[in-house]
Amino acid sequence: MIIAIDGPAASGKGTLARRLAAQLGLRHLDTGLTYRAVGNALLQVGLPLDNEELAAVAASNIDLGALDPAILSAHEIGEAASRIAVMSPVREILVSAQRKFAEQPPGAVLDGRDIGTVVCPDADVKLFVTASPETRARRRHEEILSKNGDASYDNILSDIRRRDARDMGRSDSPLKPAPDAHLIDTTTMDIETAFRTALAFVEEAKTD
Ligand code: DC
Repeated sequence: MIIAIDGPAASGKGTLARRLAAQLGLRHLDTGLTYRAVGNALLQVGLPLDNEELAAVAASNIDLGALDPAILSAHEIGEAASRIAVMSPVREILVSAQRKFAEQPPGAVLDGRDIGTVVCPDADVKLFVTASPETRARRRHEEILSKNGDASYDNILSDIRRRDARDMGRSDSPLKPAPDAHLIDTTTMDIETAFRTALAFVEEAKTD
């Protein structure tokens, strides 16, 4: 069983992916972390973020078993990830590693931007999770404040809009729903309802 979950930043796809994987006994890969790990590797040694060859070398050294969300969730690493994610040689290397992960039994839940369209086009279930930019910005803002962080809602919103434009506008594997993806708009949905909705799509696929 392979479940592909795509959607923009802060749509709730990560929480959904983790919960589905736990519920169904599947492994989980947040593919955003793989792009973040490449960005972080370059930042760590002060290398430029606009050199495809260097970024591809960094990508081929990424260990999927050593992705630390606590380190990789930093804002500047997300920005770096979004810049190297437009590079085809980097995508090729990471997509191949992600596919290998997905194909190991008993299957997996992968979340990202191009899972249903490129990484696992034959996935058993495809979900495209969205929410309005304002809702996503409000959630991110509340999350940061709850961890005693400091951020302005307006800055987060403009950041989300810029990230969306880059992810949807790139020529290689832009963010878009696969034709056979189920759409889940979480703008007015709590996580419990989103989870139940997703689980219903999975159960439906199992009986097909
Ligand atoms: O979901 P995230 O914020 O961790 O993703 C970081 C960046 O990586 C984001 O700008 C888009 C990119 N990404 C991608 O291009 N393809 C994926 N499958 C996952 C993430």
